[in-house]
Order: sequence, then C-alpha cells, then structure tokens
Amino acid sequence: MPLRLAVFCSHNGTNLQALLDACQQGRIDAVPAVVVGNNSKAYAFERARSADVPTVHLSGRTHPDPHDLDFATVEVLQGYGVDLVCLAGYLRRLGPGTVHAFRNRIVNIHPSLLPRHGGEGMHGLAVHQAVLDARDAETGASVILVDEQYDHGAVIAQERVPVLASDTADDLAARVFVVEHRLYPHTVDRIAHGALDLDAIADSAHVEATTMRP
Ligand code: GRF
Repeated sequence: MPLRLAVFCSHNGTNLQALLDACQQGRIDAVPAVVVGNNSKAYAFERARSADVPTVHLSGRTHPDPHDLDFATVEVLQGYGVDLVCLAGYLRRLGPGTVHAFRNRIVNIHPSLLPRHGGEGMHGLAVHQAVLDARDAETGASVILVDEQYDHGAVIAQERVPVLASDTADDLAARVFVVEHRLYPHTVDRIAHGALDLDAIADSAHVEATTMRP
C-alpha cells in the first residue's frame, strides 16, 4: 500500500510541487491524501487543486482556540487516513496533540544544515543570510523529524552545497532549492520503502542526547 501523505504549506509550495510530481510520476511509493494550509490564499492550494488533491484550510481564523485547532488537525489527518505528515514551508508550530498523535510520523524540510541556522523565525532568506554572516563554507538542506520545538528533531537526511565567495542570500536560496526538491521526495520514498526507520532514528537520537559521557 502506498504511503498516504499530508503536506502542510503556508505559501508558495515548490516543495509540495516536487512531492506531487514525484507521486504522480511513480518516483515515490506514496499518494498525496490532503494538503493542509494555514493561509487560504497560499499558492500551494492552487498547486494541490491542479493535482486533484483535497485541500483543507486550518488556522486561527477557522479555529480561534488553539486547542480546537490542534484537535481539528488530528481529525483531518485521521479522516484522510494519513500515514506521514510532510511539512513543506509551513510557518506555524503544530499543536502538542498533533505531534503526540503522529509521533515520529511528521517530517520537515529546512534550507540549512541543521542544527546550524534553525529555530523560531529562521525561514526564507533569513536562513541564507545567516549562513553568509557566519562565513560558512557550505550549506544545504535537511529533512528532520518534527517534535515540540522548532527545528529540533533528529536529522533524517541532509545534502550539502558549497557557499561561493560571490553568493548573495538569493543565490544560496536558489542553489538550496534545487537540492530540496530532490532530497524531499527521495527521503519520503526511502521512508515509504522502510529504508529509513523513523522510530529507530528517533530512539538513537534520544540515546545520544541522554548518554552521559565520562
Ligand atoms: C523551503 O526553503 C523549505 O525548506 C522551508 O520553507 C521553504 C518553503 O518553500 N521550510 P516552498 O513553499 O516549498 O517553495
């Protein structure tokens, strides 16, 4: 059975498009079950509609109480029979009930080599400018497990790109996007085929974080 995906987006949705294309072309053993967004005007919703994928708008407008929003999110995911949640440019933190109900079944893509340049407010060009300001020699894209904190879960996959002396933040964004659009579908396919075991990755990251070193 192909993995049933929910993709969460806030704006443009180029990573959503990469996932939709990969599903449609049979490059990943998954089907997009639903696209969820907190911004009803997101272009990502257009992309979903063009691919005949159901869309659901969930936000502080549809559910002013955060607990209701969290509960509704779980209901939507369960209603669509979702196996894996892919955050793709989703700028809200998921509620604790959603993270709990889908523990080790929520992944995110981030345009840096986490743990470098992550955390609240680190998105878009701010990430790439931080890479330039730190004079890093390389950057890249990371796919991580989602937990209760921003950009904090175990790293599942990364791909590196060089930082060139002449690079602007826009240059870096363009170079990293190329990598993201390849890395995310490839990683989801590895999850679908069991080549990546998300429970085992989470467990080993936990052991590493809690092991006392002499
Ligand atoms: C990407 O850089 C992704 O890594 C980050 O937000 C951006 C979303 O871009 N989480 P898009 O909406 O997929 O074009």
